[in-house]
Amino acid sequence: MLNPMYSQYAAEYAAAIQDNSYNAHYERPSLCALLPELQGKRVIDLGCGPGEYVAYLMSQGATVTAVDGSADMIALVHQKLGNPFNAYVQDLAQGVPDEADQSFDLAVCPLMVHYLEDPTPLFRDVKRILKPEGLFVFSTHHPFVDYQFSPSGNYFLTEKIVDEWDTLGKPTRVEYFRRPLSALMRSLTDAGLCVLEMSEGRPDEQMQETDPQSYRKLSTAPGFLFLKCQVM
Ligand SMILES: C[S@@+](CC[C@H](N)C(=O)[O-])C[C@H]1O[C@@H](n2cnc3c(N)ncnc32)[C@H](O)[C@@H]1O
Repeated sequence: MLNPMYSQYAAEYAAAIQDNSYNAHYERPSLCALLPELQGKRVIDLGCGPGEYVAYLMSQGATVTAVDGSADMIALVHQKLGNPFNAYVQDLAQGVPDEADQSFDLAVCPLMVHYLEDPTPLFRDVKRILKPEGLFVFSTHHPFVDYQFSPSGNYFLTEKIVDEWDTLGKPTRVEYFRRPLSALMRSLTDAGLCVLEMSEGRPDEQMQETDPQSYRKLSTAPGFLFLKCQVM
């Protein structure tokens, strides 16, 4: 199941996240703060979207493989960056079966895990394709934030949420999964990954000028959860 925001509205999504508050001035700086030195590293971007991270990772000297479930997003990545690298369509609920064991130094997965009902198969594949000292850095909706949208009111369930977001400047239907923090942690440990560092993110200083309301909100309450993991 792909949300229309990532398929038929992919180009609008690409334009919207270039310089917006939540992606450009909160999520990306918070996730990048957890990344290791990138020069000469082999990196896979899982759920690459229109390629904001691909461009950044390449600019820092990494060799990047980009994967997304949306053919429209992969087309945008090629349009943005040309074709000198490997980018392909894959449903990440099934992991990355075409990637070789122990072939990457780093896997990143910004804001994609909450679209999977069960992220364990992906996490198992992340462990398989990472080199022994490899790192997995990802962000996802904060479980405490998503709990307010729980249809059942039972925090301990994993549930599908149907909502409308204004990311594109018009209400757009989205579906994703919320889960308790313990379920996310169990999926990681079941896959053989351990958490080295956790962050709840912080908005950059520019947002204070450009969007003071979101700056106040994200400075006083969490939005996303950021985890840096390693193979156990
Ligand atoms: C919120 S966007 C994030 C894009 C990019 N990581 C970023 O932060 O700019 C989520 C991306 O996950 C992709 N996605 C959602 N479900 C997926 C799935 N099951 N398999 C592969 N990609 C998926 C969408 O197509 C979309 O590009």
